[in-house]
Amino acid sequence: MRIIEPVSPGDLEQYYELRWKILRAPWNQPRGSERDSRDADSTHLMMIDNRDVAVAVGRLHFNSIREAQVRYMAVAVEQQRRGFGRLILQALEQQAATLGAACIVLDAREAALGFYIREGYSAEGPGHMLYNCISHIRMRKTL
Ligand SMILES: CC(C)(COP(=O)(O)OP(=O)(O)OC[C@H]1O[C@@H](n2cnc3c(N)ncnc32)[C@H](O)[C@@H]1OP(=O)(O)O)[C@@H](O)C(=O)NCCC(=O)NCCS
Repeated sequence: MRIIEPVSPGDLEQYYELRWKILRAPWNQPRGSERDSRDADSTHLMMIDNRDVAVAVGRLHFNSIREAQVRYMAVAVEQQRRGFGRLILQALEQQAATLGAACIVLDAREAALGFYIREGYSAEGPGHMLYNCISHIRMRKTL
């Protein structure tokens, strides 16, 4: 396993496909719904196995010069709970620190709250609601 920045068309295809499969397809959302306008100026990280197949992805963008935000954390179903999500998150945090961030915020799905708490994030209050059914909790970690 190793973490790369997806750049080639093939890697980018795998990157967005995993995002869609884990975060959008279960809610019957079409392909394309997994992307947004901040993708163009974000850091994208992807963990690949020894056959170059994507197993985990995550994204980092900046809301201000000191505040970074993590979005679209997704691990392939059969690879969850093996430490790969943690490795992606830690690599995004390292990148945030390198780029000058003082803190990271994110909107956690309730089902993933425990994961972020283990990684040192604190709940701040309600985050956004997705598709009228997935509620999120705004979390923050000081770097
Ligand atoms: C949430 C997710 C990114 C975590 O990645 P992962 O690779 O499965 O998690 P890891 O194996 O790195 O877990 C790290 C720690 O968090 C814990 N953890 C992982 N997922 C958890 C969850 N959903 N609830 C509570 N704890 C969790 C693990 O048990 C582990 O703890 P430990 O070190 O004490 O054993 C991944 O499971 C996933 O993609 N889930 C579906 C999509 C999703 O919810 N994405 C987040 C949207 S905000």
